[in-house]
Amino acid sequence: MCGIVGIVGRSDVAPQIVDALKRLEYRGYDSAGVATISGGRLARRRAEGKLGNLERKLAEEPLPGRIGIGHTRWATHGVPNETNAHPHFSGEVAVVHNGIIENFAELRAELAAEGQEFESQTDTEIVAHLVSRGMRQGLGPVEAAHEALKRLRGAFALAIIFAGDDDLLVGARSGPPLAVGYGEGEMYLGSDAIALSPFTSNITYLEDGDWTVVRRSGATFHNAEGHEVSRKRTRSSAVSFFVDKGNHRHFMEKEIWEQPDVVSHTLSHYLDFAEGKVRNVRTPFDFASLDRLTISACGTAYLAGLVGKYWFERLAKLPVDIDVASEFRYREAPLSKNGAAIFISQSGETADTLASLRYCRAAGSPIGAIVNVGDSTIAREADMVFPTLAGPEIGVASTKAFTCQLAVMASLALMAARARGTVDTEAEREFVRQLAETPRLMSEALKLEGPIEKLSHRLSKYRHVLYLGRDTSFPLALEGALKLKEISYIHAEGYASGELKHGPIALIDETMPVIVIAPHDRIFEKSVSNMQEVAARGGKIVLITDRKGAEAATVETMDTLVMPDAGDLVAPIIYAVPVQLLAYHTAVFMGTDVDQPRNLAKSVTVE
Ligand code: F6R
Repeated sequence: MCGIVGIVGRSDVAPQIVDALKRLEYRGYDSAGVATISGGRLARRRAEGKLGNLERKLAEEPLPGRIGIGHTRWATHGVPNETNAHPHFSGEVAVVHNGIIENFAELRAELAAEGQEFESQTDTEIVAHLVSRGMRQGLGPVEAAHEALKRLRGAFALAIIFAGDDDLLVGARSGPPLAVGYGEGEMYLGSDAIALSPFTSNITYLEDGDWTVVRRSGATFHNAEGHEVSRKRTRSSAVSFFVDKGNHRHFMEKEIWEQPDVVSHTLSHYLDFAEGKVRNVRTPFDFASLDRLTISACGTAYLAGLVGKYWFERLAKLPVDIDVASEFRYREAPLSKNGAAIFISQSGETADTLASLRYCRAAGSPIGAIVNVGDSTIAREADMVFPTLAGPEIGVASTKAFTCQLAVMASLALMAARARGTVDTEAEREFVRQLAETPRLMSEALKLEGPIEKLSHRLSKYRHVLYLGRDTSFPLALEGALKLKEISYIHAEGYASGELKHGPIALIDETMPVIVIAPHDRIFEKSVSNMQEVAARGGKIVLITDRKGAEAATVETMDTLVMPDAGDLVAPIIYAVPVQLLAYHTAVFMGTDVDQPRNLAKSVTVE
């Protein structure tokens, strides 16, 4: 999603702005731009595509100026081209924007009726025109910005500068996050603390509805009604990182390989391996008395929640409702008085997940959040954060955050089971032992990279792929299909194996490989029957199983990946590895932009 930067600096700020924009690249974008004020005049450089294109333009025609704003754009209104790239200008005003102005059509019509002409197809441009109109009508810049904000509906974070004043930056937040950073005689605005990490770790987050006036001497904060308010300064945990790829070709590959470490780190936060027990982590709810758990999230995080449902229900006998957040937020689901809600998000900023959290908050549910970005909005609005300790995830396709989410889910399910008396000490010790083994087993699974790479080469020749799985392997089948389609652009579908004969079997022929995720568990035989059905129709099977499964599968396969033996509980954490590697290597063969696949954003702050 779009990223915003603003700097009121001591010397030329364009290079700093580009540096900050590079740290926002991971969010996904398709064009970028910078505007500064020099000699009382606004100037900008914008470019379609990667930041390198913008840097080349800036090298040819540098932008002087001690104040500036910058932007990485993920297109919503209007195609990704230079004209639609931010900053947008109107008269004395320059604006960058993350989010969607929902009443854009109405405001555009109003401005058009007054004779306003438009340069771009964006919703952002109308913000510049509204502020500029206010100034033409005699308002000062800050007042004009505030009046314009009152007219906007939707989700937005904005940064605005004014040609006549190189010591004034106005920021506003309604939905997507925005942070003010404090430096030595310099002040900053940014979409997140990571963007500002090279300059400062001294941060104030705007609350929803806030706007801020930033000058070299400091910042003031105002709520939606315009009253000055005080907002807490915090020390951001975002280190000034420029995470590099190490010896890996892509961040995604590096992040896949980091999993044994980060999963181990995450598990040790929740589990006492030596004692064979779950740690007494404080929770906002008493698991023993809950009658229902509601889980909501998007994409891969949702699929981690779906695995969690199996674990909570099986281990703790706690019924779980789970829904994708974009549906849950509007579903008007009645919530149990004795229930609790858990939201899962890597970024902690996903608009639909945040809206679902607020729905549950309004209904009075206690709220836990499983998040990777510790100072994100979802983390701040939850009663309690259950951190995933995956470290910064830069590849747009989620990998290590997913397995860490699974590690947290398994730990919480075990915690709930102990509180509800559905596991005894022996069983708890056995589950903790299985979980303690996962990092080692993931390392074993990573050794399959060679055969997976070969298999991926073959897979990259197909246009459609089906993934099947039962029980906790069903969410993994969905995750496999999601990973493959998002980074290789090969069409893929995931199904519960038992659903095959209720429709998808019609698709089976030799042009559609079927990837079956089936550890040798209590229902393995059922998966074998499903594979027979596929084989009988000429389907090509790739079986991902363990040694026992490979021996017991009486079916011819195109390939069989033999995974290390793992306990039933932890299998999904380990089987995530081949599923990710398969998608990764197929995408590499297809030659796609693996870390920043087309059309995708890392942090989805709009609906
Ligand atoms: C897929 C992927 C997305 C995210 C989803 C939720 O690889 O990364 O499906 O899982 O956009 O994002 P977060 O976890 O930040 O809420």
